[in-house]
Amino acid sequence: MHHGLLGLWFWQKTQCCLSGGESQDQSSCLDPPSYFFGTIHVPYTRVWDFIPENSKKAFQQSHIVYFELDLTDPYTISALTSCQLLPQGENLQDVLPHDIYHRLKRHLEYIKLMMPSWMTPDQRGKGLYADYLFNAIAGNWERKRPVWVMLMVNSLTEVDIKSRGVPVLDLYLAQEAERLKKQTGAVEKVEEQCHPLNGLNFSQVVFALNQTLLQQESLRAGSFQIPYTTEDLIKHYNCGDLSSIIFNHDTSQVPNFINATLPAHERITAQEIDSYFRQELIYKRNERMGRRVKNLLEDYPDKTFFFAFGAGM
Ligand SMILES: *[C@@H]1O[C@H](CO)[C@@H](O)[C@H](O)[C@H]1NC(C)=O
Ligand SMILES: *[C@@H]1O[C@H](CO)[C@@H](O)[C@H](O)[C@H]1NC(C)=O
Ligand SMILES: *[C@@H]1O[C@H](CO)[C@@H](O)[C@H](O)[C@H]1NC(C)=O
Repeated sequence: MHHGLLGLWFWQKTQCCLSGGESQDQSSCLDPPSYFFGTIHVPYTRVWDFIPENSKKAFQQSHIVYFELDLTDPYTISALTSCQLLPQGENLQDVLPHDIYHRLKRHLEYIKLMMPSWMTPDQRGKGLYADYLFNAIAGNWERKRPVWVMLMVNSLTEVDIKSRGVPVLDLYLAQEAERLKKQTGAVEKVEEQCHPLNGLNFSQVVFALNQTLLQQESLRAGSFQIPYTTEDLIKHYNCGDLSSIIFNHDTSQVPNFINATLPAHERITAQEIDSYFRQELIYKRNERMGRRVKNLLEDYPDKTFFFAFGAGM
């Protein structure tokens, strides 16, 4: 959690409740309480046992559970899918520089070839097969906007493939909320999550895709270690270490291209992309989500809310 508006406001609101109501200013306490929980986009089985009992109890006792997006709603999924597509009639081959397009194609062919050997017996036991998984993640890639192809390539690594098939923590909580017949909602619209990514300009996207491919190509050649892996993320999450810099490099989100070995003009581009994402995906969203959370708490003061948002935000 970056200490944006949302974090600060919650800290003030919940502090007295957490400390047993000792605060001078009882008027700033929520009664009944509401809860704010930082989720992570990794298989829930990797983190569930580390989540404290009081958090699980808060979830069970809440009347209403709010997420960033409602991932159990088929509309959300189809809106996300179409927001990621190029305009009608356009194709990646027409849009991307030739060199990038061909490297991308070659890389995806490599992934497709490797994927069967990456799948675990557990995954196969669940009926999850490489062909199906490849199509679910990368099918239709030639119709996707370059920025989404870049994120996709970033998530097509052996470790990430091995973790597919178990719901990620945020989805698991949504499924549990549904199973427990809780009222659910979302504080964001699909467009609000999708459009900022689509707003990166062309030269920035080509740079980002080029860097992502360079990383993956050296990974393939065995000469590169991804600096911030999902494993690190899980370790820090399980230790409750949210302030760790690792959360500025949430691998399931936007990769970091700032790299000391880049030539100066490319380092500037990397920095521009980083500050664009920070502004659009963290600061602006924190404020917007904070306002909506505040309105909900004020409009339904007798309800206990459980807000489950990405901890990396
Ligand atoms: C993209 O944005 C950067 C930084 O704002 C700018 O320097 C560059 O000229 C823009 N490129 C295009 C193609 O608009
Ligand atoms: C990709 O990046 C490399 C290294 O930074 C650079 O030399 C090359 O020109 C880039 N390719 C494209 C198409 O931008
Ligand atoms: C840094 O950039 C260079 C040149 O583009 C690349 O070879 C290297 O893999 C990059 N390192 C990281 C950690 O991204």
